Amino acid sequence: MAQTTTYVEVPSAPAAKPAAAARLESSRYTSRAFMTREWDQMWTCTWLLAGMECDLQAPGDFFVFSIGRESIIVTRTKEGGVSAVYNVCQHRGNRLLVKERGCHKAITCPYHGWSYDLEGRLRATPDADRFSQGIDRDALSLKPVKVELWAGLVWINMNPNAEPLGHFLGPIPQRLAPYCFERMTLVADQTVSLDANWKTVIDNFNEQYHVDFLHPQHASFVDCCNAANQLWPHGHRSVQVEGFVVNPRYPVPDEVPAPLRAAIAPLGMDPGEFAGRVPDLRKAVQRQKREVGASLGYDYSAFSDDQLTDVWQYDLFPNVIMTVQAEELWVMRPRPHPSDPDKCFFDKWTLRTASHMAATGSGIGLSVEAHASGVCARPEREVFTQEDVDAGKYSMNITIDQDVHLLRYMQAGMHSRGFRQAFLNDDESRVQHFHD
Ligand code: FES
Ligand SMILES: [Fe+2]
Repeated sequence: MAQTTTYVEVPSAPAAKPAAAARLESSRYTSRAFMTREWDQMWTCTWLLAGMECDLQAPGDFFVFSIGRESIIVTRTKEGGVSAVYNVCQHRGNRLLVKERGCHKAITCPYHGWSYDLEGRLRATPDADRFSQGIDRDALSLKPVKVELWAGLVWINMNPNAEPLGHFLGPIPQRLAPYCFERMTLVADQTVSLDANWKTVIDNFNEQYHVDFLHPQHASFVDCCNAANQLWPHGHRSVQVEGFVVNPRYPVPDEVPAPLRAAIAPLGMDPGEFAGRVPDLRKAVQRQKREVGASLGYDYSAFSDDQLTDVWQYDLFPNVIMTVQAEELWVMRPRPHPSDPDKCFFDKWTLRTASHMAATGSGIGLSVEAHASGVCARPEREVFTQEDVDAGKYSMNITIDQDVHLLRYMQAGMHSRGFRQAFLNDDESRVQHFHD
């Protein structure tokens, strides 16, 4: 009974194992100098998840992506492409858009009325004849940012010489292809502000060592003890956790535990049949999903058996966490605060397959809690604080609420004179790989 870690080597990509190991000193999480280095040498040079393609249905649809002090406008163009430009007017530097999402015919500055088309080309300048020096429309167009699409998600890169997104992600999109994320529907859009550095959040999602202690409920539906960690080039990580099983640290229960009863009920499976043989359940669920999936409106044909029962998490460098099941995807993204290394914004999007949305009750899957099914309209973004989660006013799923509660204390500890650097075990390999 042990976790495993393997490096995944990818032809024509840099070696998965970096040449040197990073030291996880507390200043990495608390110092402004480190935060500035991250901005100059990482955030502005790498691919970042900016938003969801479902917010760009028609020409003129836009969203604004905020990262650190930067703000980027992403728009569906007339020709059906996607443009990304810095959200700053070339007249005197005013921020053009303050609204998060919407649809516009042109990008017009509220200050003196300069107007740009959907691609950011300067079109109108009031009192143009009063610029006696002339107006160079090319030079005064909005400054572009690289943009690409994958999996129904919109990615941007502030480095004009960046490698294509496909090179950066390597074989990961192929691994995830059966899930067809682009066909899933957004059912919840949440942002919590945290008193923690963004990397404190990433670290938390990159090890299962804490699960027994912080998330005891997991013992009755997944096996985190035998998780299989994979470390990819470019700092990406993944982990496979077997689902529809119980924690092997504890005696096997005679009866199927409650969360698994709820998860197999929509499949028409009788928990009584598995009394005394709970470990047989995972394989039986795989068979049953194949057998009755189509009649319940689910298409499982492209999935491997493991993908039908297990939870995968893909952590894409630097700050994307994708928790993947056959019927549901969580995309989580801690974003750095503009100026304070002790704070971040933590976004979570919940997406579901169409059949899962139509299902009655909680549908098929391992999520402990379900959002209302049958939702059609794009949900408004819920914005709340760590205190709101602690008070039970908002929930991001019980497991994440437990993490959210703890993170501020982790960040507080980083400031102690009594702590210098982290001391990791073998099963925290994804944490180390991320920092390397
Ligand atoms: S700053 Fe935008 S028009 Fe003047
Ligand atoms: Fe956790």
